[in-house]
Amino acid sequence: MKKLLMTLMAMMTCCLLDAQIIAPRILSDSHVMLSLEKQTRYLLLPVEEKAEIAHIRVLKDNNVCQTLNARLAVDKVDYFVPLELKKADLLDISFRGDRRTKGAMSELACWHEMKYVDEFDMTNREHFRPKYHHTPKYGWMNDPNGMFYKDGVWHLAFQWNPYGSQWENMTWGASTSRDLIHWDAQPAAIEADGLGTIFSGSCVVDKENTAGFGKGAIIAYYTSAGEAQTQSMAYSTDGGKTFKKYSGNPVLVSSVPDFRDPHLFWHAETQRWIMLLAVGQEMQIYSSANLKQWTMESRFGAEYGNHGGVWECPDLFRLPVRGTGQQKWVLVCNINPGGPFGGSATQYFVGNFDGHKFTCDSRPEVTKWMDYGKDHYATVTFDNAPDNRRVAIAWMSNWQYANEVPTKQFRSANAIPRDLDLFIDGTETYCGVMPSPEMLTLRGKPSKQLTDACEVVVTLKGSTEITLQNAKGEKVVMRYDAQKQTFSMDRTKSGDTSFSEHFPCTTVAPTHGQMKQLRLFIDRSSLEAFDGDGKMAMTNLVFPSEPYNTINVTNKAKVTIYPF
Ligand code: FRU
Repeated sequence: MKKLLMTLMAMMTCCLLDAQIIAPRILSDSHVMLSLEKQTRYLLLPVEEKAEIAHIRVLKDNNVCQTLNARLAVDKVDYFVPLELKKADLLDISFRGDRRTKGAMSELACWHEMKYVDEFDMTNREHFRPKYHHTPKYGWMNDPNGMFYKDGVWHLAFQWNPYGSQWENMTWGASTSRDLIHWDAQPAAIEADGLGTIFSGSCVVDKENTAGFGKGAIIAYYTSAGEAQTQSMAYSTDGGKTFKKYSGNPVLVSSVPDFRDPHLFWHAETQRWIMLLAVGQEMQIYSSANLKQWTMESRFGAEYGNHGGVWECPDLFRLPVRGTGQQKWVLVCNINPGGPFGGSATQYFVGNFDGHKFTCDSRPEVTKWMDYGKDHYATVTFDNAPDNRRVAIAWMSNWQYANEVPTKQFRSANAIPRDLDLFIDGTETYCGVMPSPEMLTLRGKPSKQLTDACEVVVTLKGSTEITLQNAKGEKVVMRYDAQKQTFSMDRTKSGDTSFSEHFPCTTVAPTHGQMKQLRLFIDRSSLEAFDGDGKMAMTNLVFPSEPYNTINVTNKAKVTIYPF
């Protein structure tokens, strides 16, 4: 009996203690302090996406060791995100927005739901999580960053919010792959510091040790987004596993508010590193011999192409022109908004680069798009790819609705990797876009059954309508018009389109000649259509309540389905 009483008392004390562990000390209607009584690896923060942002300062021994923004739950919990405590002892939380002043601060759902844990469960809980596209295990993702290849491994960093599935707290998340298809999540590559959060940028392999960090060191350049946008450097001497920030940061500063997204490459002819920066409505080109001191060389773009939005995420590289034995330079310019169907898109210019200046072959009013869907943005390419390949990866979403798409545990995937080259049509040279050859290795035995992850090859004999449909009547209708030489995709009835007025739409692409083969990559929440010769690419998200399980084609087209 005595033993039972003692056990009961012990249990009650334990419960009381547990209840007291997360006891907010309320200082005002918008300010709370939270002592971290327990020393577990993580504190699980309850997030409610509709809640206003809470600004959290993480303290240890009275010093701030981290700051972050999270939408702490007010009424209900949408999901949890892990805050690694690293022995911190206090959270200083200030709330923004009016919702916090309504109701008692002590009653907010977050105080009741916060949990001390040693493990964070990342098991997939999302119906729409793609099966073969790269996604973050949890949290928000936008642009691909710092992409390079070294010693058989493809490195892909990305704009990541570890504290919610909406844009905030930018850091570089990281993944690696040996085949461009299966990705392993790695610890965050570069985290925010006193200069700001970490915006987009690139990595290069410094083979000849020009920067002095060692032969083969990986040099990352990114935008520090603080009071101003400045360019900073970090370096890795362990093949990209960990990065140290350069002590001379920031390396490049400016008074222009939009000054970002450094993209670097080695220009062999001038023996210089080249950096491209997106600066408002133009791209600026800098050069350096040692990756530390930079000289401004030139600017491109003020009068060229589309200017419906801010120029972002540049890239510049040389590509072979099919059937000519020649090469030309391509300058990539992601733009948001201003895309052909609204919101974000990737435009590019074809011309020449002499180590100092980019000159465009086309007239200023000519605009070229790399992908004619709505969900292909922030496209950049890998440094140091093998076999002279130029491999591009894009973020598969659109700023018009990226924060609202119907997923929670994570938000956004990357489009499949694509190999680029150039082809001529009439008087213009265009970018050829082919699914990277690695995609062929996913193909299973040809089947008649459409699945939620497969490649469909359609052999076309002139104009054709291709419809994907499920038992609920949700469908996507694609039309190849051989006369007009266009391909279109209508996703107005594709499933859930309700989250944004900008989502339902039909996208249309020029096919630059007759299309003989259509390659369609289907995943749980995306469709990527390619002309078999790489003269047309179209990437669109779809959110069907159940997978499309039938395909209908007109005009005797032949369909082969390769399940993945
Ligand atoms: C493009 C972009 C970049 C910026 C990053 C911030 O999508 O706006 O210009 O560096 O996202 O997350």
